[in-house]
Amino acid sequence: MDLPLEIANEKETDHGDVSGPISREGMPMTNVAVIYYSATGNVHALAEAVAEGAAEAGAQVRLRRVAELAPAEAVDSNPAWRAHLDATADIPLATNQDLRWADGLAFGSPTRFGNISAQLKQFIDRTGPLWFAGELTNKVATGFTSASNMHGGNESTLLALYNTLYHWGAIVVAPGYTDQSVRLAGGNPYGTSHGSAGGLPGSDVLAAARYQGRRLTAIAECIASGAREERVAA
Ligand SMILES: Cc1cc2nc3c(=O)[nH]c(=O)nc-3n(C[C@H](O)[C@H](O)[C@H](O)COP(=O)(O)O)c2cc1C
Repeated sequence: MDLPLEIANEKETDHGDVSGPISREGMPMTNVAVIYYSATGNVHALAEAVAEGAAEAGAQVRLRRVAELAPAEAVDSNPAWRAHLDATADIPLATNQDLRWADGLAFGSPTRFGNISAQLKQFIDRTGPLWFAGELTNKVATGFTSASNMHGGNESTLLALYNTLYHWGAIVVAPGYTDQSVRLAGGNPYGTSHGSAGGLPGSDVLAAARYQGRRLTAIAECIASGAREERVAA
């Protein structure tokens, strides 16, 4: 699978160390992790677009999937599920280290009855040690989703995801109606969402996802650079 150059070139750095990669403007680069679950490719397409947007905005980007938990017989019962799982096997699995590394986080999940998928929830439920250590505080975070029906749970899925982010002390950055692309993509201010009954996300939805990645990066950059200045001043 082709990834944008910036994603493919992502480097191992931790912004706890201010000597990390430096942008052309002389500032440390913003780290964005896009972490998602997708069974049949819709959320995967959104994840790639969010990652592209973050890279366009100058971030170092990690695109990471969470582990499949369903048994093989369940996956095999749906050819599209099996095909997508096999096609994305080369995308690294998300770890808590990715959360530690990131200044900005974008989480994606298909709706499961108005909630996030068990696969993404399992990943989130293993972040307790980071949470206890305060390492998720002030992470800038956002979410994106897909349901078969446009009103089949997209908004409630994002709100359910955001519950966790509030508990982390993360800073939730939803798109709101801050860009025309949000309206053109169906107008969900909570995060980019896609009604998949008609097929994979089209250009309007992908444009909104790219915008969401750019917006996440811009705000993560403000927060991270402010925090770095505070550390330098202390
Ligand atoms: C267990 C389960 C529950 C689902 N619940 C809903 C639902 O309540 N409403 C809906 O519109 N779609 C529902 N869906 C459909 C998926 O959310 C939808 O197909 C989504 O676009 C899949 O994204 P993916 O291709 O990234 O896996 C459900 C699917 C599964 C397997």
